Amino acid sequence: MLSHGKARGTSGFFWLNAAEMQIDVLGDGWDVGESRLSLPSEQKRIDTLWMAEAGIVDAFFFVGPKPKDVVRQYVTVTGMPAMPQLFATGYHQCRWNYRDEEDVYHVDSKFDEHDIPYDVLWLDIEHTDGKKYFTWDRMLFPHPEEMQNKLAAKGRRMVTIVDPHIKREESYHIHKEASDKGHYVKDATGKDFDGWCWPGSSSYLDMLSPDVREWWAEKFSIKNYVGSTPSLYIWNDMNEPSVFNGPEVTMPRDALHVGGVEHRELHNAYGYYFHMGTTGGLVKRGEGKDRPFVLSRAFFAGSQRYGAVWTGDNTAEWEQLRVSVPMVLAMGLTGITFSGADIGGFFGNPEPELLVRWYQLGAYYPFFRGHAHHDTKRREPWLFGERNTQLMRDAIRNRYILLPYFYTLFREANTTGVPVMRPLWMEFPNDEATFNNDEAFMVGNSILVQGVYSEQTKDASVYLPGDQSWYDMRTGTAYKGGVTYKLEVSDDGIPAFQRAGTIIPRKDRYRRSSTQMVNDPFTLVIALNNSQSAEGELYVDDGKSYEFQHDAYIHRRFIFSEGKLTSINLAPSNNRRSFSSGCVVERIILLGLPSRPKSALIEPSKEKTVIEMGPLWVQRSQTPSALTVRKPNVRISEDWTIQVL
Ligand code: NOJ
Repeated sequence: MLSHGKARGTSGFFWLNAAEMQIDVLGDGWDVGESRLSLPSEQKRIDTLWMAEAGIVDAFFFVGPKPKDVVRQYVTVTGMPAMPQLFATGYHQCRWNYRDEEDVYHVDSKFDEHDIPYDVLWLDIEHTDGKKYFTWDRMLFPHPEEMQNKLAAKGRRMVTIVDPHIKREESYHIHKEASDKGHYVKDATGKDFDGWCWPGSSSYLDMLSPDVREWWAEKFSIKNYVGSTPSLYIWNDMNEPSVFNGPEVTMPRDALHVGGVEHRELHNAYGYYFHMGTTGGLVKRGEGKDRPFVLSRAFFAGSQRYGAVWTGDNTAEWEQLRVSVPMVLAMGLTGITFSGADIGGFFGNPEPELLVRWYQLGAYYPFFRGHAHHDTKRREPWLFGERNTQLMRDAIRNRYILLPYFYTLFREANTTGVPVMRPLWMEFPNDEATFNNDEAFMVGNSILVQGVYSEQTKDASVYLPGDQSWYDMRTGTAYKGGVTYKLEVSDDGIPAFQRAGTIIPRKDRYRRSSTQMVNDPFTLVIALNNSQSAEGELYVDDGKSYEFQHDAYIHRRFIFSEGKLTSINLAPSNNRRSFSSGCVVERIILLGLPSRPKSALIEPSKEKTVIEMGPLWVQRSQTPSALTVRKPNVRISEDWTIQVL
């Protein structure tokens, strides 16, 4: 429970309990039936009423006083968000199901044919032999290693689904071992619990048990998971756990876990433990050289330590695009920052316009994946005519261009808990106009995004908070803060603004996937505030291993002040291990300079470079011009200054 107000700031209350719980908020505008609204105003306050079916009272109070302080305090109790691999922050293409190897190759090659970057292709339950996880339908996927290797050769990965229900089939090795070892959840009579899920009659691993998790982790080794390769990652689904014939479509409350604990005590943590066990498997497989990637549908306080989550089965409707924003924002407030909604909506067939808008918004979700139910029509980005392909390509490229910024934000989350995607009031805690706004959001402290949530939208009302300006990220047009604007909206993007006083690192060159971008040069976009200054950060590491935990990374702060840009080292100066990068800054874009300087002096090299008008977005045609410092070619790993003359 998080409370935020102008007068008393932000505070948080956390009851660590995995049993069924209900919290009523007895406040103005909350649907609580009888409330305290009849009280005289001086006595008016917001009370909350907490009820739980089971559990002990193990509670924490976080005093804030700022929103970011509360999140920081909360993650000291529940854990830090894991640092993802770079590839996981790119675009993911999923569908229930990509039918067979030919389909996989086809989809993969179409992305290239249409110049659309993507990083990961996903296989849903139909890739298995009869919904037995860790197996392959060998008619459809006769050569899974070769398939993964071919994608890996292009710098791409695959993900397969692994659910916690295990098919009760004698010849299935996982079932045989799990039942022999007593690794299943028991029913109230002490027999292995038997419930119905995708494979039919299934039993459920007791992930609460550390022994079971250890055994499970071994299943992900390259040797044990036949047909897997090091470029294969995992998707955990149905881990609430979902039981089709169970009460409330889950496990009966009297089912028994290790130590004789009833399911009612810990239902909400089952999915968390499954996620933990799977992630443990990938950590083990990678021997510290390969950070895991596991997406989970079910989650609990602390799931941020294990990987990504998504908002579950949504529908291809405008309203569901709209609600995806508060959903992702709310999860971010609990440290679970690596999340997103299925782009396009899982059920139903989105109109091309909705699909395009979803890509334009989803490109800013921390987790960016297109997914669809198997009864829907195919909806890969090239299937709706040239114009729509172009719009979706632009949206996805937009994400790739901003990957250095996103990765830097993931590192901020990893060290502070502060989410990648933030409600406006987290950045502007004293601005009441932001408190109820969940149609716009911040990505980090520098970008404000306003979604477009209805068809044929011609204009959008956008509130730009604060007393500093904002720059339209596509045109560079400046807008004063503290004003609500009615802005024209076209089909080629949703409103997005860079906050004055910030510096955003980008990589503008188009590539097939994040892997190919590793050595690409950077662009820095400097948006000046009223005092002609700006600040931003860049974090870079090897993008995959745990070496960053031994200080092997580059972390810079860029400060622009009095006409001079300075790059300052934020990494420990006596780095225990080193990470080097030959990457340079190839372009600096300046927004908000009143004069038009002609050149810039680089120190310590004493070289001079030209400042000229250049496009704001190199990739996009018809973009107006911005002041551009051409080819300063300074290394991101070094100290330097660039003085505008
Ligand atoms: C339910 C998941 O939410 C959905 O994303 C998935 O496609 C189906 N299960 C089939 O695995």
